Amino acid sequence: MSLPPPQLPAHPEFVVIHNGIITNYKDLRKFLESKGYEFESETDTETIAKLIKYVFDNRETEDITFSTLVERVIQQLEGAFALVFKSIHYPGEAVATRRGSPLLIGVRSKYKLSTEQIPVLYRTRNIENVKNICKTRMKRLDSSTCLHAVGDKAVEFFFASDASAIIEHTNRVVFLEDDDIAAVADGKLSIHRVKRSASDDPSRAIQTLQMELQQIMKGNFSAFMQKEIFEQPESVFNTMRGRVNFETNTVLLGGLKDHLKEIRRCRRLIVIGCGTSYHAAVATRQVLEELTELPVMVELASDFLDRNTPVFRDDVCFFISQSGETADTLLALRYCKDRRALTVGVTNTVGSSISRETDCGVHINAGPEIGVASTKAYTSQFISLVMFGLMMSEDRISLQNRRREIIHGLRSLPELIKEVLSLDEKIHDLALELYTQRSLLVMGRGYNYATCLEGALKIKEITYMHSEGILAGELKHGPLALIDKQMPVIMVIMKDPCFAKCQNALQQVTARQGRPIILCSKDDTESSKFAYKTIELPHTVDCLQGILSVIPLQLLSFHLAVLRGYDVDFPRNLAKSVTVE
Ligand code: G6P
Repeated sequence: MSLPPPQLPAHPEFVVIHNGIITNYKDLRKFLESKGYEFESETDTETIAKLIKYVFDNRETEDITFSTLVERVIQQLEGAFALVFKSIHYPGEAVATRRGSPLLIGVRSKYKLSTEQIPVLYRTRNIENVKNICKTRMKRLDSSTCLHAVGDKAVEFFFASDASAIIEHTNRVVFLEDDDIAAVADGKLSIHRVKRSASDDPSRAIQTLQMELQQIMKGNFSAFMQKEIFEQPESVFNTMRGRVNFETNTVLLGGLKDHLKEIRRCRRLIVIGCGTSYHAAVATRQVLEELTELPVMVELASDFLDRNTPVFRDDVCFFISQSGETADTLLALRYCKDRRALTVGVTNTVGSSISRETDCGVHINAGPEIGVASTKAYTSQFISLVMFGLMMSEDRISLQNRRREIIHGLRSLPELIKEVLSLDEKIHDLALELYTQRSLLVMGRGYNYATCLEGALKIKEITYMHSEGILAGELKHGPLALIDKQMPVIMVIMKDPCFAKCQNALQQVTARQGRPIILCSKDDTESSKFAYKTIELPHTVDCLQGILSVIPLQLLSFHLAVLRGYDVDFPRNLAKSVTVE
């Protein structure tokens, strides 16, 4: 029996890469649907792809240029966007444009370029006359109206929203302005626009980034991860800026205020994320339970989906994601939306899929995070969730003292983080002792269990050492078997309600000849008696202590990775943003 020929997926006629948000996409979609166009997703991006197809299908002449199509499309778009288009109808061509979102073009050629300034072609007449203009102007591309390598030698173009994405290929870039339409065809780049630009500059210069951009951006640091760890006094401050009022002891998260009533009435909170973002949920679960007086479930997105977890319309589901693009988290979001729960995004990326698709949300404002191992996003996610708890408890009389204590704690965090960062050298020395080890256990409980999970994850991710975050309460149920005088163990013991229980775990470890390295409070004379080494941390409110205790582990993982000779920012096999399930 012969099998029927396989059904090949239809190739899309237009492909679009989109960064940003189209605010009128629902109207456009309605219009396109009324014209018979079918949609496969809920995204605003798909609307752009369908819109350009519509413009193409309804062109009045056969020889309309690709850039004219794009020009017509962007006249219909509202919002902020950077777009790059490709099409089977225009092989070998690409057209890029932007409005409100950054877009630059990297230029690479081994040969001399025809020009250092690319003149901008302006449409002088109404858009109706585009056809004529295209014929007269856009077809007259020569060395004065476009960029190419002299002698038609190969020139390559890279489109990116940020120079850091292309610096490894070229340091020659052209920054586009709003509404510039840049077309690459036959290896040549030309730029045109309908209206004069805000700068009124009739050309776009090819700029040479003077230094390696990575160097500029990294400053005095040897890796982005290290820079991001040291940025935490500022990133944490930026997360709170304009939201926490230290005078009135109030917190206002603008993105949530209209939904607060609904959230207060909910059945439970479900906090969902992957990797570090999940750990931020674990870290704040207890304080959220305390301040919201609601049941709080914390969930790994993949497991949440695997279990077909029951979700109801009176649930409130939080999606924690630095990138806002993690596939598992995004799928969990769609799953909860289908069940009509209220969805809240906590992301670091404006315009990301999660921030667009959730009903409301909080932007953590940590600034771009480039190192694959997340650091400053974790502390900012942590603070964002604490701020949410504070906002929820504003009218609870019984919680006023506790709220004041936490808000007071938030105020001094940036200074205390600086103090922790000053331990860097000591932590480097510790790394010198540990970097040849194969394994490293990190143990704690209560508010600091998440610190152990997150610390162990950092160590795994960038040092490739085996590392496990262990709940000290589970010690006697298995992990104790691992303890002997060779096994390096870090214990996180803070002056909080779990202190006595942690002492107990410490004794169990030392009784098995374990030699614990203890992260403890500055004034803790008790733990240090049993420690092989201590790292002493400043004290803050129990529920915020995890922000301070994670930083030594971030620093330790960094130094271990450097000593082991690994690329700290780009660990093997891992991606910053995992956009596949
Ligand atoms: C990847 C990254 C992790 C990150 C996780 C979740 O695995 O390597 O560092 O914690 O994704 O990413 P998100 O962007 O959703 O926070």
